[in-house]
Amino acid sequence: MAAPQLQSVDVAIVGGVLVLEARDRTGGKTLNRKLANGGVTEVGAEFVGPTQNKVIQYISTLGLQTFDTYNNGSSVLWNNDQRILYVLDAATGGVPPVPEEVLAEAATIVATLDGWAATVDTNAPWEHPNATEWDSVTFGQWVNGVATQGGTQFVLISFTKAVFAAEPAEVSLLYVIAYISAAGDESNKGTFGRVIGVTGGAQEKRVEGRTQLIPLRLADKVGEQHISLNTPVHCIVKTSTGYHITAKGLNVWANKVVLALAPSLVKDIKFSPPLPHARTQLNQLLVGAIRKAIANYDTPFWRTAEDLNGQAISDTGATKVTFDNTPSSSTFGAVMGFILGDNMRALNTASTATIKSKILSDFSRYFGQQAKQPREFIIQRGDLEEFSKGAPVAFAPIGVLSRYGQALREPVDGIH
Ligand SMILES: Cc1cc2nc3c(=O)[nH]c(=O)nc-3n(C[C@H](O)[C@H](O)[C@H](O)COP(=O)(O)OP(=O)(O)OC[C@H]3O[C@@H](n4cnc5c(N)ncnc54)[C@H](O)[C@@H]3O)c2cc1C
Ligand SMILES: *[C@@H]1O[C@H](CO)[C@@H](O)[C@H](O)[C@H]1NC(C)=O
Ligand SMILES: *[C@@H]1O[C@H](CO)[C@@H](O)[C@H](O)[C@H]1NC(C)=O
Repeated sequence: MAAPQLQSVDVAIVGGVLVLEARDRTGGKTLNRKLANGGVTEVGAEFVGPTQNKVIQYISTLGLQTFDTYNNGSSVLWNNDQRILYVLDAATGGVPPVPEEVLAEAATIVATLDGWAATVDTNAPWEHPNATEWDSVTFGQWVNGVATQGGTQFVLISFTKAVFAAEPAEVSLLYVIAYISAAGDESNKGTFGRVIGVTGGAQEKRVEGRTQLIPLRLADKVGEQHISLNTPVHCIVKTSTGYHITAKGLNVWANKVVLALAPSLVKDIKFSPPLPHARTQLNQLLVGAIRKAIANYDTPFWRTAEDLNGQAISDTGATKVTFDNTPSSSTFGAVMGFILGDNMRALNTASTATIKSKILSDFSRYFGQQAKQPREFIIQRGDLEEFSKGAPVAFAPIGVLSRYGQALREPVDGIH
């Protein structure tokens, strides 16, 4: 018998990678939904923008294209029962139609936040000398101390709701600073404007075919033999050689485990031995309350009727933040409204018919009576999904990030 051949390599990969996915589909908090008119809409994540380099690179390497979020014409500001149209355009220097004192105060506050965000280490905001101080107040408490103008409060409340789907009283100031800091990249600092902006900001672009195509194409590349759907992981036990993972209908032995889960979902998994104290505490990060309402029309009539861009910010209504959700082909028109934070919780037990009538009355206040007659109306209750437990993102209440933040990216032995 010949002696086995000896082969020399740099790296030998033993075994392979297996993705255990709880749902019956890939995509998580991205989800494309077919429309009655043959089109597709997103009931989950929608926008990408500059400095989000990794997702933009994925879009390109997966053969997908982006297009600009519709941003021509006027936005609607609904404030103190008044409907005001304005053009907010960095290129032409347009500003919101609010009193000089409000503009000045808001600019100072935004500059303060941007300045603080620039001084924290994005990867370790808890190491900033002022981290404990910033983490001892909610964003709302801080805002109340620095914003004397009702208009300034309105801007900052709108920001908090739109970004975290939470109220200012729920989110730690340190977390807001850390989040702004994380909206940059290696060569650009994150800013408040980048978080909320359309042109130049996080809402600048959309994906042709809609965003769930990103994970769907990625899953194709990984190969279905490496993805096990309907397989929620319940339990992870360390053994002498690696990990024993118990999932629904499947037992897996692995050398290493990567948990690509929000902290609130890691909390549902039982670990033996238990995770370190700091990590367990961190898993109590909260998740926002968001729902998306989408109304489809034959045409994007607001563009032609009043030259509106479909964006509204309001201080009243079930939806206070909207965007134009029309496809790039404009074969039909669509408005998307977020239902956020306390506005969503107030409708927890409301019927779909009630929610629909509230949302369409909001849309018609912002965009005209035609908005009352959509072809199709969609509401997605992301809050009821067992494997999201809220969205869009996790956020920290006071006292958590400064104390337990360092556990966020720290592997626990072979569990990352
Ligand atoms: C309505 C809405 C609007 C949004 N808008 C935007 C936007 O415009 N731009 C943007 O950038 N982001 C947006 N987001 C946020 C974005 O969707 C998330 O940041 C992103 O999807 C997070 O990806 P993820 O892979 O970390 O988590 P997820 O997408 O949540 O994926 C986690 C996966 O783990 C699975 N899972 C959970 N528990 C288990 C378990 N025990 N065992 C096995 N599998 C499990 C889940 O089923 C899921 O597939 C939005 C989200 C929502 C809901
Ligand atoms: C927006 O306006 C610009 C400048 O007038 C124009 O070139 C562009 O085509 C418009 N975009 C859309 C989607 O209509
Ligand atoms: C940190 O806090 C101190 C004391 O409150 C303050 O003087 C200092 O300016 C703060 N540093 C930053 C970067 O804000």
